[in-house]
Amino acid sequence: MNAVLELADVTVKRGTATLLDGVDWAVEEDERWVILGPNGAGKTTLMQLCSAQIHPTSGVVGILGEVVGTVDVFELRPRIGWTSAAVAERIPRHEIVRDVVVSASYGVVGRWRERYDELDHERAAALLREVGAGALLDRTFGTLSEGERKRVQIARALMTDPELLILDEPAAGLDLGGREDLVSTLSAIALDEYSPATILVSHHVEEIPPGFTHALLLREGRVMAAGPIPHVMNAEQLSATFGMRLTLHEEDGRYSARRLARRHA
Ligand SMILES: Nc1ncnc2c1ncn2[C@@H]1O[C@H](COP(=O)(O)OP(=O)(O)O)[C@@H](O)[C@H]1O
Ligand SMILES: [Mg+2]
Repeated sequence: MNAVLELADVTVKRGTATLLDGVDWAVEEDERWVILGPNGAGKTTLMQLCSAQIHPTSGVVGILGEVVGTVDVFELRPRIGWTSAAVAERIPRHEIVRDVVVSASYGVVGRWRERYDELDHERAAALLREVGAGALLDRTFGTLSEGERKRVQIARALMTDPELLILDEPAAGLDLGGREDLVSTLSAIALDEYSPATILVSHHVEEIPPGFTHALLLREGRVMAAGPIPHVMNAEQLSATFGMRLTLHEEDGRYSARRLARRHA
């Protein structure tokens, strides 16, 4: 089994603020990780490191066998599929959905990219069908609902056949139905053995799709717990991460959490 990510004593500082502090973490290619933590914990900063968007202030970040800082990031980035609010903002509203997905492959050399444009379009259509957005091919991105946009972004992130898939809060802004549909889609991706190593950032335990194998809990830039979900997902560690007494409930692979009633506190 190959390590897709290897972080050793990684720190990120901006001015006097420490955004990530002494992070040690490894991700293997068959693992699907969920990153949980309150707002401002450093989740997005951690994903920017893992997608070679930023460098650590200190420590070592290894991605797909390459050490960040010793490798051309423009060769590394196409091997990583990444969705986030920042990526979504760069998609023009008037762009046709099929082009939003296909354009992820522009500039990517090697792999299947040297073939023909027609194959690219077939692949984009197949990926859109896979994420339940097959009917949206000819729509413009700006006319889509929030849930539809998230699906298109995931198809786009998968377009380059990445070895690592990073989804930073894909359920943010979705209504209940939209969230449940997305959780099903992500669960299908997680359970597919041909899917790349996947990292999903969230701050809601309700959004953990069945099939995810590992969890990392982050608070104030520090890893509170990391490992297989059954070892990490318990009320004690979740409470420490979110800074309040929580109860945690699990049913059929889905989690829910709420604050412990005051009389128990
Ligand atoms: N360039 C920066 N300079 C100073 N502080 C920053 C900078 N970028 C992010 N932060 C702070 O770092 C913390 C972690 O941010 P972020 O990684 O976006 O957290 P999360 O995704 O978990 O909400 C937040 O408190 C944020 O305000
Ligand atoms: Mg964030």
